[in-house]
Amino acid sequence: MFRMVEIIVEKPAFDKNPSPLVVIGIFDNKDYEKYLKYLGSKAGSALKEIVLGKGFLGKLGTSILLPIIGNLEVEKILLIGLGNKEKFTQDVARRMAGKSALKAREIYQPNFSIFPFAESEESDIETIAEGIFLAMYNFGKYKTKVSEGNNKVQRVKLLVDSTNVERLRARIENAKTVTEAVNFARDLGNLPPNDCSPGQLVAHGLAMAESLGISSTTLERYQMESIGLNGIVSVGKGSDNPPKMLILEYNGTSNNAAPYLMVGKTVTFDTGGISLKPSEKMDEMKYDKCGGCTVLGIMRAVSELRLQIRVIGIIPCVENMPSSSSYRPGDIIRMFNGKTVEVLNTDAEGRIILADAIAYGVKTYKPRLIIDLATLTGACIIALGANVAAMIGTDTELKNRLKKLSEVTGEKMWELPLWEEFHDQIKSHVADIKNIGGRPGGAITAAAFLSNFTDGIPWVHLDIAGTGWTQDGTSKKSYNPKGATGFGLRTIVKFLVEESPINGNT
Ligand code: BES
Ligand code: MN
Ligand code: ZN
Repeated sequence: MFRMVEIIVEKPAFDKNPSPLVVIGIFDNKDYEKYLKYLGSKAGSALKEIVLGKGFLGKLGTSILLPIIGNLEVEKILLIGLGNKEKFTQDVARRMAGKSALKAREIYQPNFSIFPFAESEESDIETIAEGIFLAMYNFGKYKTKVSEGNNKVQRVKLLVDSTNVERLRARIENAKTVTEAVNFARDLGNLPPNDCSPGQLVAHGLAMAESLGISSTTLERYQMESIGLNGIVSVGKGSDNPPKMLILEYNGTSNNAAPYLMVGKTVTFDTGGISLKPSEKMDEMKYDKCGGCTVLGIMRAVSELRLQIRVIGIIPCVENMPSSSSYRPGDIIRMFNGKTVEVLNTDAEGRIILADAIAYGVKTYKPRLIIDLATLTGACIIALGANVAAMIGTDTELKNRLKKLSEVTGEKMWELPLWEEFHDQIKSHVADIKNIGGRPGGAITAAAFLSNFTDGIPWVHLDIAGTGWTQDGTSKKSYNPKGATGFGLRTIVKFLVEESPINGNT
């Protein structure tokens, strides 16, 4: 597994602790003076000269490296443009912190120091740490040699002139726990399908649960058949790698309070089945498990943060393959909650497995609310692009809270409506509902399908087809390296932290 950078807090005193590289963020108002008192005369005048001489304008995302020749205290300064101060957001801080670390890595500088960007707010420190931890993620497992330029950043000093160092350390620790969970979700999401059958993915989930003392149950195919999880069994039938369902339970309460239910679509590879997908970009369908991987990461984070709530994570896990044992267009499935589904396209498999997992979670655990994450529809990408997740659900308060938190985390979510008209599109002539509603409003009709299985419990669905991995149309962000992004985890964990009566660090 992946080794994290170490981030420590230190007072800026370069005479005592020289630094090979110091990162300074500059707004486009070129407000540089506040750094002069720390830098010493040589580095200070180099900074002043370049900024006043208009060699660096502070435009967002620009950078310049200043070598301070013959200076032992500070050898180099990296200036990072922060843009307009009024437009500064936490996501700018996250991106620019990540960019600083990428630059340091590019110039083989394993250790650097960085000043906070805003007026050393605690949340700013946490966000900067997050940006660095996330940007340094690298899926190197399948490279036989470490490539050049892949020199690792080892240690970052956050330079703060504060007396509240303990609280800052706690915030960094918090960022570390959460981003490690994101990177864990990314590691699983990036696995190639030949090393990630449903059985293999479940084994990774079980190993994580065991190491943290999270209780787990795995349902095998025959057990799912016997209790009527026929949606999951049907979709999984076409593959020699049998379907499984993993259920994790974290209980940080002293009773059996109604839990938060998290469900993630986990299709380890989606060929489309008998309704076979075209071959172009079919490889990307290894990411069709990202919803489930994020749920595993959420379980890891809530456990490590010791939140005082009860959380259930369910991942229905299948491989969608064409074969003589596959489910077919025309099949009618009696689902776990008794409703019947006419299959008209075997490529609309995600909603079928999610529906069963949701219905199972509702019946077994009577949750207070449900959040599901799924790379559910191409239509979501058509509607909102590759940088925004679709949010559809039945509970206004839950939707609003997630939306608000997503503005802090930079995980953009936008609500689509779930009106009656969309339910009409999935009415079937022969069964209760059908699994496709035509092209118009495809992301919404998929959610309308799911709503048939939530039994009136407050529920939000996040379609992460565009945001779960980097693809055509993904805007470059330093903290999202190529591949699985772990999208949704940080926002949902923040929500769960808020729900917890005592939440240590925040
Ligand atoms: N996993 C796909 C959705 C998807 C497509 C995610 C492209 C990311 C990128 C899902 O199982 C699927 O195939 N959906 C179909 C539904 C259609 C048949 C109603 C789709 O979106 O085309
Ligand atoms: Mn599909
Ligand atoms: Zn799929």
